[in-house]
Amino acid sequence: MKILVTGGAGFIGSHTVVELLNAGFSPVIIDDLSNSKKSVLQGLKNITGIDLPFYEGDCNDRDLLKKVISAEGIEGVIHFAAYKAVGESVDQPLKYYRNNVGSLVTLLEVLSELKIKNLVFSSSCTVYGQPDIVPVSESTPRKPAESPYGNTKTIGEDILRDTIKSGAALSIISLRYFNPIGAHPSAEIGELPTGVPNNLVPYITQTAIGIRKKLTVFGNDYNTKDGSNVRDFIHVVDLAKAHVSALNLLKKSEAPFYDVFNVGTGTGNSVLEIIETFEKVNDLKLNYEIGPRRSGDVEQIYGNVDKARDIMGWQVEKTLDDSLRDAWAWEKKINNK
Ligand code: UFG
Repeated sequence: MKILVTGGAGFIGSHTVVELLNAGFSPVIIDDLSNSKKSVLQGLKNITGIDLPFYEGDCNDRDLLKKVISAEGIEGVIHFAAYKAVGESVDQPLKYYRNNVGSLVTLLEVLSELKIKNLVFSSSCTVYGQPDIVPVSESTPRKPAESPYGNTKTIGEDILRDTIKSGAALSIISLRYFNPIGAHPSAEIGELPTGVPNNLVPYITQTAIGIRKKLTVFGNDYNTKDGSNVRDFIHVVDLAKAHVSALNLLKKSEAPFYDVFNVGTGTGNSVLEIIETFEKVNDLKLNYEIGPRRSGDVEQIYGNVDKARDIMGWQVEKTLDDSLRDAWAWEKKINNK
C-alpha cells in the first residue's frame, strides 16, 4: 500500500517513513523543507537502502497534491506537514492558520476528489489545554487552546469530525501526540531544530555538547512531584509505530469513521527527572539552573493510552533511558563527536 507522508522529512515524519517500510508499506514523501533538511533523505537511505520518492512542495498546493497522489497511486495519507512553534504562532497566527488549517482543507478536498479513503492526522495533547486531572484520556474534554498553534490542532480535529459527519467516504484517525523525544537508534535520523531549540531534550543535548552554555529549567514551584513540569515523553520510534498501527486499523475498516487516540507512554516524568536520567544513562553532568516559569506552560500532563492498546494493538516498547541515550548519540553524530 502506497502511503503519502506529508512532512516526511521532519522529525516524526522521517521516523515514520522507516517504520512504514519495515511494516511493508511504500512511503512517498512530500515536504517543503521549511523546517527540515534534504540531508534527512540520505539518512533514510542509509537506514533503508532505498532512494525514497520525494517531492519538494507545500500541501496548500492543490495541483501538486493531485499530481503526486495520482502519479504515485497513493492509497492513504499521513499528514504531518505543519508548523509547530508555539511562540511563533502567537506572533504570526495567520501563518499558522494558513499552513496548518489551510493545507488540511486542501488535502481533504483532494482526497475526496481522487477517492482516497485513508487518512492519519497529527494532532497533539495540546488539545487538552491545562487538564484538571491526569492522566488524560480521549474522553477528557478538550479545553480552549493556549496558542494559535494549539488551536490549529483543535480546529483540525473538528474539521475531520465534521467531514466524516457530512458523509464523506473517508476513514480518519487523529493521533494526539505527547512529547516525542529521542532519535533513530542508528543515529542516521533525529531532530534537527532550527536556531535555538524550544523543546527540552534538544536543548539538553545541545547544552551537553557545548552549543548552549546552560539549560534553564522553567520553574520548580509547580504543584508536581518535584516542582518542575511533568510531561509524557515518548520515544519517536514508538510514536512512529503508532502510525503503522493506525493505518492497519484504517485498512480493516469497511465503513467510514473518525476516531482519536492518545499516543504517549502513559507515564509522567518531570523536567528534573529527565535531566537526572540524561546524566545517568550518558554518564555526564549537565550545566543547568532553575529559572522562572515559561508563560503558557501546562503544569502537568500525561496520557492514558489504553485505547491505543485495546483498539490499535499498539504500545510502547522503548524506555526513557533508550530515548535519552538515542538523543545523545544523535547529537554527537551531527556534531561529528
Ligand atoms: N523546558 C525547560 N527548559 C527548556 C525547554 C523546556 O525547562 O529550555 C521545560 C518546559 O517548561 C516544559 C518541558 O520542559 O515543562 C517540556 O517543554 P517542551 O517545550 O519540550 O514541550 P511542551 O510540553 O511545552 O510542548 C509540547 C510540544 C508542543 C505542544 C505542547 C502542548 O512541543 O508542540 O507540548 O502540550 F504544543
